[in-house]
Amino acid sequence: MPRITILDNTVVDQIAAGEVVERPASVVKELVENALDAGAQSIDVTCEDGGRAKIRVADDGCGMERTDAVLALARHATSKILHPADLVGVASFGFRGEALPAIASVSHLELDTAAGDGAGTRISTSGGSAPNVTDAARRRGTSVTVERLFYNAPARQRFLRSARSEWRGIVDVLTLLALTRRDVRVTATHDGRAALGLPPAPSLRARVGALWGASFAERLVDVDDVSGEIHVSGLVERPADVGTASRRLFLSVNGRAIRDGGLVRAAEAAYRSTIPAGMRPTLLLELTVPNDALDVNVHPTKAEVRFRDRWPTERAVEHAVRRALGTGASAATFGGRAASWPTEFAAPSAVDREVLRPHDITADAAPLAPNAATATLDAATAAEPRAEPLPVPPLMQLRRTYITFEHDDGIVLIDQHSAHERVLYERFVRTLERGEAPSQRLLFPITLHLGPAEGDAFDEHRALFERLGFEIEGFGGHTLIVSAVPMPHPRFDAPRCLRDTLAALTGDRSPSAASRHEHLAATLACKAAIKAGDPLSPDEMRALYTALARTTLPAHDVHGRSTIVQLSWDELERRFGRR
Ligand SMILES: Nc1ncnc2c1ncn2[C@@H]1O[C@H](COP(=O)(O)OP(=O)(O)OP(=O)(O)O)[C@@H](O)[C@H]1O
Ligand SMILES: [Mg+2]
Repeated sequence: MPRITILDNTVVDQIAAGEVVERPASVVKELVENALDAGAQSIDVTCEDGGRAKIRVADDGCGMERTDAVLALARHATSKILHPADLVGVASFGFRGEALPAIASVSHLELDTAAGDGAGTRISTSGGSAPNVTDAARRRGTSVTVERLFYNAPARQRFLRSARSEWRGIVDVLTLLALTRRDVRVTATHDGRAALGLPPAPSLRARVGALWGASFAERLVDVDDVSGEIHVSGLVERPADVGTASRRLFLSVNGRAIRDGGLVRAAEAAYRSTIPAGMRPTLLLELTVPNDALDVNVHPTKAEVRFRDRWPTERAVEHAVRRALGTGASAATFGGRAASWPTEFAAPSAVDREVLRPHDITADAAPLAPNAATATLDAATAAEPRAEPLPVPPLMQLRRTYITFEHDDGIVLIDQHSAHERVLYERFVRTLERGEAPSQRLLFPITLHLGPAEGDAFDEHRALFERLGFEIEGFGGHTLIVSAVPMPHPRFDAPRCLRDTLAALTGDRSPSAASRHEHLAATLACKAAIKAGDPLSPDEMRALYTALARTTLPAHDVHGRSTIVQLSWDELERRFGRR
């Protein structure tokens, strides 16, 4: 007796439903995507009991003639592709022709549709039974009602979660679709209560504002960058706002919301040295890539895509986000959105330069001769080759802690310690990657007696200290003799800086050389930078201003704090009731 049979369509559809229809949110996703593919301008979603009892998606799209409507419920029936070649760069959400039959096979489904106002068609089916077709007068468009999902698949039904949890899943799906297609009005009702009302939005920022509040939207920084054939745009969180609270995440490629851990990590990598490791920024990013660089048919619910070239795509995302974080809009403000940036800080030279990592190194900077006689804060800028002088506005020191100045759009306050820390950090990273640092020989070498842990930390980082410009000899046990130091500024307290840095480095076992470099650079920068309370001469303030303007990420120190806070004239006028 033969043991192999070809399964009948109902079984096949139920198997497909196992992949495509996991929970009520998947039904909503498929139905809303169909509505969008039908050119709907307005989509209304109604759910009961977290979608477990009822889901209805109504649209004002192109609708279907009766013959099409009957076919739509058949397996592999699609109007969206014809040939295998059509799969390349397919622009519609759907293309497999399996969503409707799969949903119908595990629910009571009713489809009302009309291709023009007036004469329409109503089709109902239960568990994939033969459809019942009748007339139904209605306006152009389609509504699909799905009741008692999984009523005939008890094993699946048992996996459904609480109504609240399923509803949350539906809101997440609607949110992603609403972010992708901002031109469409989306409304949703749950158990008779209006839950979502999104008018068409002119921009991503506007849609984000409608979803999560205008003040949240206002604080995000624009991303807009092209690398080769890859365009990356969107909105990301300012480092100063990144908290431990849960973040928002949205990624799309060629208009399709996707999940992609690699791209998320690439975007997060751009935040390195601006927020502590482990903090998760809000990222809303849209990629446009050539159609043939993408395969969208790799995942049952199309939640993932495959890139032809993953590496350049990830680099493009990292570059775009880092560029956004180098702009003034990413700086903290006293409220509202940063209007613009002092132009000197926005000089393309400052924005385009990446903090170098080992694999990026192409050119070497010429090592600079030590020049102890002119050692001031200028030493911080001296490591910057080929720098032209910048125009510097009049600067004033406040409370021996902040440097302030005005520019076209408002008042800027710089925290002198954080700013110097950012300057030194980038300089140390460059030095570690590229070569020799200027250093100053001490007239009287310093002797340091270290504890065992600090001594071990020194042994482990010795080569790096030497690259940074320290000349240090071991003297038996854990005694060090320091005979030359890099010269960050005249108030540089070498013994204290070394001690504090080594104490902070104890137990640092960073696996990769790059992260060891960055950790040492960050620690040393923090300990070597001028402190709050240090009086600065006008020349020193100017040197710090110039050096900060030339860093890649001037607005952020290496701990996730701001170096710069802006108060725009607009905000000031608002507060004084002038507008
Ligand atoms: N809301 C709608 N308005 C107009 N036509 C629709 C609508 N929903 C479905 N259709 C038609 O029914 C067909 C089948 O829909 P179904 O979702 O099953 O497959 P698909 O969207 O083509 O592919 P996929 O399975 O990848 O979603 C679609 O190709 C489309 O022609
Ligand atoms: Mg579909």
